[in-house]
Amino acid sequence: MKQIRIDKFLAECQAGTRSEVKQKIRKGLVTVNGRIVKVPEQKVSPDQDEIICGGVQMHYVSTEYVMLHKPSGCVTALRDDRYPTVMEYLGSGHRPDLAPVGRLDLDTEGLLILTNDGELAHRMLAPKSHVEKTYFAVIAGAVDEEDVQAFREGLDIGEKHLTLPAGLEILRSGEESEIHLTICEGKFHQVKRMFEARGKKVLYLKRISMGGIPLDPELAAGQWRPLTDDEITKLRQESGMSAVSEETL
Ligand code: URA
Repeated sequence: MKQIRIDKFLAECQAGTRSEVKQKIRKGLVTVNGRIVKVPEQKVSPDQDEIICGGVQMHYVSTEYVMLHKPSGCVTALRDDRYPTVMEYLGSGHRPDLAPVGRLDLDTEGLLILTNDGELAHRMLAPKSHVEKTYFAVIAGAVDEEDVQAFREGLDIGEKHLTLPAGLEILRSGEESEIHLTICEGKFHQVKRMFEARGKKVLYLKRISMGGIPLDPELAAGQWRPLTDDEITKLRQESGMSAVSEETL
């Protein structure tokens, strides 16, 4: 691996912000191969040098994968002037280039994956990858077998093509109905527009799985955890990448 500045390396290891790690360096809290380093500009080789900060050996984490239970009322964006963003739920200490994979609406809850693995994010969102996303929704009014059939055949939501076949499962039908819907594309407001095409309104929407990864039931809205290695492997498979990339070797 190429050499990088010690302050950049430490910030990417989540040892603190760039200015915090510079202070640690100047205070003599950082050693490289046993020798104190006092210059933030000093270059290091993360895969060869033993770098210790405040008594803890630092390991370079080049890619980060996070599962967030997105609450309603925040936007899936890196920054926003009006609403809190999903990034605010993650707190500090993350890779600076961590970004959401796709988007959930302001009022949609549930599984949001964030990563700085650009290739995986790109593949997961590529229309040809057909990564499955499953939603739980509450719908105003009854949902019936005709809806199931229409979702299976494809709906006109005002795009060039009909929607791809989608799996609609009715959990409960009544004045308010509960459903599971599995789709393998990700058009803007897709679930809401699919129900609109059937003359029905989505009252509540929550994503419960993506790419075969279910939302962890232990995560309350607003909580997050890193993805496990098995989950990352599953996402790679589901999006058509080989299970192990050079990045993880
Ligand atoms: N479909 C929608 O309509 N909204 C979302 O947030 C996700 C899928």
